Amino acid sequence: MPAKKSHAMLLGSFLLFGSSALMAAPSASMLANTCAGCHGTNGISVGPASPTIAGKSAEYLKEVMEGYKSGDRHATIMNRIAKGYTDEEIALMADYYAALPFESAAEKQTFDSAKIEAGSKLYKKNCSKCHDENGTLAEDDSGILGGQWLPYLQFTMVDYRSGRSEMTKKMKKKVEKLNDEEIESVLQFFASQK
Ligand code: HEC
Ligand code: HEC
Repeated sequence: MPAKKSHAMLLGSFLLFGSSALMAAPSASMLANTCAGCHGTNGISVGPASPTIAGKSAEYLKEVMEGYKSGDRHATIMNRIAKGYTDEEIALMADYYAALPFESAAEKQTFDSAKIEAGSKLYKKNCSKCHDENGTLAEDDSGILGGQWLPYLQFTMVDYRSGRSEMTKKMKKKVEKLNDEEIESVLQFFASQK
């Protein structure tokens, strides 16, 4: 009898788990419908101020959305949007977008090649430790800067440097060493990655 009972319990929890897993996929994509107007179909933004969000790590996406929700991260619009979602829904959307492929916006933008060159050197010295592989690596949980929309990166850096959004201490130390032109160069370097 006890053996039978535990078998039934196992089966019960399997069914429970199975059905919630089945429901998770459609509800994540339903939630993501709301985001598509600004972040594009499948999280690839047509720019320029809304970032591409596909392909970043789930950890990063979750952290950023929570920062918007709490107000720690400055935003023009995302603070209000993030407040409308529970932590579970945010986690669901983070997993959903993390699983989609990132697509570079470099070819849709124009750059100054001298700035890219200067930016490349500044990058290696100051940013490469945490934004690995020219900022294209999702696994370092620092977002994806390589191939992002330049205006989005510029607005974000204004928020960081003015203190409206908080940087990690170590990033702050590096960013504070750079002047406006150097920041512009390093952002052009990032955005130009294909
Ligand atoms: C009305 C347009 C709009 C909608 C709708 C919208 N966003 Fe955003 N999103 C933005 C803008 C603009 C930014 C840049 C921050 C800001 O100014 O608010 C942003 C930033 C973000 C970022 C930060 C990206 C990064 O690299 O740090 C994430 C993540 C994000 N949005 C997720 C979402 C999700 C998930 C939804 C759907 C629930 C959504 N957004 C809906 C416009 C929008
Ligand atoms: C010590 C690690 C570290 C260093 C060094 C660093 N960063 Fe970051 N950076 C991060 C982390 C972690 C995040 C994501 C969390 C956050 O917003 O604070 C981030 C986020 C960013 C973002 C926002 C990404 C987005 O999609 O919204 C920009 C822009 C950025 N960094 C630029 C730079 C630049 C430029 C440098 C070099 C001058 C640099 N970082 C150096 C760790 C670092």
